[in-house]
Amino acid sequence: MTYIEEMGKFEGKEVTLNGWLYNKRSSGKLHFLLIRDGTGMIQAVISQTDVSKEVFELGDKISQESSLIVKGKVIKDPRAIGGYELHVTDVIPVNFSQEYPITPKEHGVDFLLRNRHLWIRSRSPFAILRIRAEVIRAIRDFFDSRGFVLLDAPLLTPSACEETATLFEVPYFGGKAYLSQSGQLYNEAGCMAFGKVYCFGPSFRAEKSKTRRHLTEFWQVEPEIAYAELEDIIELAEELVSYIVERILDKRKDELKILERDTAPLEKVKRPFPRITYDEAYDIVKEKIEWGKDFGAPEETKISLKFGAPVIIHRYPIGCKAFYMKKDPNNENLTLSFDMLAPEGYGEIIGGGQREDDLKELEERIEEYKLPRKNYEWYLDLRRYGTVPHGGFGLGLERTVAWICKLHHLREAIPFPRMIDRLYP
Ligand code: 4AD
Ligand code: MG
Repeated sequence: MTYIEEMGKFEGKEVTLNGWLYNKRSSGKLHFLLIRDGTGMIQAVISQTDVSKEVFELGDKISQESSLIVKGKVIKDPRAIGGYELHVTDVIPVNFSQEYPITPKEHGVDFLLRNRHLWIRSRSPFAILRIRAEVIRAIRDFFDSRGFVLLDAPLLTPSACEETATLFEVPYFGGKAYLSQSGQLYNEAGCMAFGKVYCFGPSFRAEKSKTRRHLTEFWQVEPEIAYAELEDIIELAEELVSYIVERILDKRKDELKILERDTAPLEKVKRPFPRITYDEAYDIVKEKIEWGKDFGAPEETKISLKFGAPVIIHRYPIGCKAFYMKKDPNNENLTLSFDMLAPEGYGEIIGGGQREDDLKELEERIEEYKLPRKNYEWYLDLRRYGTVPHGGFGLGLERTVAWICKLHHLREAIPFPRMIDRLYP
């Protein structure tokens, strides 16, 4: 089989393409079929003089999203989509699609989301989801080439990692389980066994409000390193984000072009990123919130817009982040935590820090946060047997893709979004 993305190899040659009709127009003796095959698009020109009467008539009849096999000669044309055109010699219809619901006119986003199973065939989802796949590949390459062991965390869990309010409960053989909010606690066990680990998979949070930045099912990559301190973790986060952006600028130029993404802000993503403390960030938004509270979307947007690059905010106050954060030895009221906010107003893409490695402190924290101690005994074992300083972070895949593609809403950064009001298709 030959694919549209490799047309360059077949210039001047005859090829057979298996695809679908994306769009078409005609002018007298010519039909211009825009064909897609999942790897790209090409304009196939049917000229009355080159094909049989039947094939020419087919060019007139064939409807949007019909599947078809097209044979023709590959001609270089810098003005054409993808740089090549196909001069058709034959068309074999596979299936006639009737009244495809997504027409070239504008549709409302609600309609498109209800037809997401078809919408993913369109140009902008095509570009976004191929960028997503490349971000995933970049993340895997990054960790695999740096000696991290991929250790999958379970998705059915006995206890919370983050806020208990967002736990999804599922029946579990007469008892109950929760869908994982994060693989972190298991990563902590993993790094004590393998040194450097990461997990990469879906996380679930019952986010009860509609926002542009929250899905109920999203993907996170989470590294965790034994003998690492806050500084090491922040550096790793910076390296990862610059690596991802560089990869997309290099390998997904065409997709960024389809999205009309201005790449200048992405080209400025170079290490080291600006770093500010929670207190410094708080100064930017102090009329909006009380000291000690975590920043919400409006505050993050305001802070992020002050910087042309991703910004690190470190040392959040105790109590505004999860129970496992280690206290700052230099200030009892702060934790060794950090978030990374993406520029252009995007806000948090990474959350992480150094973990509480002291058994007594951690026991106290579990009590303060009113967590059921018996479900965390295994986690406390990690502090009983050879505890060491360690830390890690979670990078939200959809938040990262949304920023790189400059999307308004997270729902377009995942093939089939799940939100409070959306479980279909
Ligand atoms: O900041 P969060 O809650 O941190 C954790 O879950 C840590 N346990 C990770 C770790 O240290 N191993 O989530 C991490 C990232 C956020 O920065 C955000 O990018 C993304 O996950 N995220 C969401 N993305 C989409 N929808 C949601 N509801 C999200 N909640 C978090
Ligand atoms: Mg967070």
